[in-house]
Amino acid sequence: MNDHYRTWIRDIPDFPKQGILFRDITPLLGNGPVYRDAIAAIAAAARAWQPELIVGPEARGYVVGAPLAVTLGLGFVPVRKPGKLPYKTVSVEYALEYGTDRLEIHADAIRPGQRVVVADDLLATGGTMRATMDLVEKLGGVVVGAAFLIELKPLRGRDRLGDIPVYTLVQFD
Ligand code: PRP
Ligand code: ADE
Repeated sequence: MNDHYRTWIRDIPDFPKQGILFRDITPLLGNGPVYRDAIAAIAAAARAWQPELIVGPEARGYVVGAPLAVTLGLGFVPVRKPGKLPYKTVSVEYALEYGTDRLEIHADAIRPGQRVVVADDLLATGGTMRATMDLVEKLGGVVVGAAFLIELKPLRGRDRLGDIPVYTLVQFD
């Protein structure tokens, strides 16, 4: 089954820069039944964690997080790059390969104690998801699981997510 989804992910060498093998999910997103079934598989795993809310980072996190929320009948909270959210925000700084970046969330997006599943398209170093989880926790939310379409295993992103269940549909060694 895992191999089935893998055939819908296209490898692009040296994008966006030399030495990076980009895992392009647009073929999967472009096929209705494959996209639907991938989200259904992620939803089946996430449902077991009994979430009350889904949170995902822009931009590709939205193509997993939003349909996951709709499938589970839950709300979706966007995490965004600085200056994009219109209301009061809380932000975190996180490390990139070179330098740092920030992510933001609306200050009233999560109730203290609310059970949150965080979702993204791909787990690489885990920096983006660690920052997303930090935002949830700053607002008093409880991260009960993390879900992804793809895991790049050698980068060991899981190690940065702490002691929560992590579901990935497709793994690359
Ligand atoms: C990609 C991807 C994840 C992140 C994974 O997003 O969608 O969010 O990188 O990498 P990490 O585990 O090392 O943090 P990107 O920053 O390229 O932004 P995009 O979704 O707007 O394309
Ligand atoms: N985000 C971080 N690393 C990536 C990769 N190799 N392919 C696609 N998205 C990514």
